[in-house]
Amino acid sequence: MRWLPLLAIAALLGTLGTGCSKKSSDVIKVGEFASLSGKEATFGNSSHEGTVLAVEEINAAGGVLGKKIELLTEDNLSKAGESGTVVSKLIDRDGVVAILGEVASSRSLEAAPICQRSKIPMISPSSTNPKVTETGDYIFRVCFIDPFQGTVMANFASKTLKAKKVAVFTDVKSDYSKGLAKYFKEGFIKSGGEISVELDFNGGDKDFKAQLTAIKAASPDAVFLPGYYTDAALICIQAKQLGLNVPLFGGDGWESEDLVKIGKEAVEGNFFSTHYHPDVSSAKSKQFVEAYRKRFKNQDGTPKSPDAMAALGYDSAMILAEAMKRAATTDGAKVRDVLAAMKDFEGATGKTTINEKRDATKPAVILQVKDGAFKYVETISP
Ligand code: PHE
Repeated sequence: MRWLPLLAIAALLGTLGTGCSKKSSDVIKVGEFASLSGKEATFGNSSHEGTVLAVEEINAAGGVLGKKIELLTEDNLSKAGESGTVVSKLIDRDGVVAILGEVASSRSLEAAPICQRSKIPMISPSSTNPKVTETGDYIFRVCFIDPFQGTVMANFASKTLKAKKVAVFTDVKSDYSKGLAKYFKEGFIKSGGEISVELDFNGGDKDFKAQLTAIKAASPDAVFLPGYYTDAALICIQAKQLGLNVPLFGGDGWESEDLVKIGKEAVEGNFFSTHYHPDVSSAKSKQFVEAYRKRFKNQDGTPKSPDAMAALGYDSAMILAEAMKRAATTDGAKVRDVLAAMKDFEGATGKTTINEKRDATKPAVILQVKDGAFKYVETISP
């Protein structure tokens, strides 16, 4: 009796496996998981668009190993718990040979153990928490990590903002936020600064007034807010309402057109660090910006400029394709070996070299919100 349901499920999965998508011999299936809807939807959509552009360019140039890449994309709804489910499905049911994703570290951390166990290489375009690639030797990223980003923002606070006392406001639901807060604090104290007060919130909260009142009472020179854009925008609004008139600044998690749409004048003048700005570009990056602007449009029909997630999404897919070409196979272990040795790969975000921890070492840029747009301030090299 207890066997029957299992057999029925196995039979059903077998049918779906052969019936749903093209035969695996015709194409190379690559899985992507992203936050295409929900709270961090702009992250997933940007990253996805960059990835799609790369796959289209690869296929137009003849594909990989004589085959076209088929990108299978799953939405995790920006929700905890979904990434594991969709990535298992991509691997077990769809038979993808590699996984691209995610932007948010907590969601990459859900998928990484599954890819590691299945010996399927995973490349996160833009998750910056160190733990992501520490999961195992099949897990890579094409961006810098938060010990670097935290130090960059600590130096920025002391040197550019000339802050002596900084408050830190952390999203305790996010591995990214907790990590970045920690590395910022270490760096800021090292540079002679003082952390005047530390407070927590939960991503998705709507009312931050109690914590902001406590922050105001500690009279810091600035507030470090390593959160994502929706929360960051609401926090900036409520800080202004409470008369907390000091700079608020954050990391790459602030980067979204929605930061300005939600925060409006409350986010003006504030700063954040990120990976890329379309104005600072190599020849390769200029090509990417042009192709992206041709391919994607804003809601009002004007050409859309790529952000960091789009550029890193593009690079993650390009590097994977290059690794499969050099490995002359899609075999997970062989592709992993080539990825681990990848040096000076020229992409939209500059050169990517994968180090011994399977991370990339790259410069950070600091941007300022100016007249509703993100203005380039400076580049900080590692
Ligand atoms: N680095 C962030 C994280 O690890 C995600 C992110 C990347 C957000 C790039 C914006 C831009 O969670």
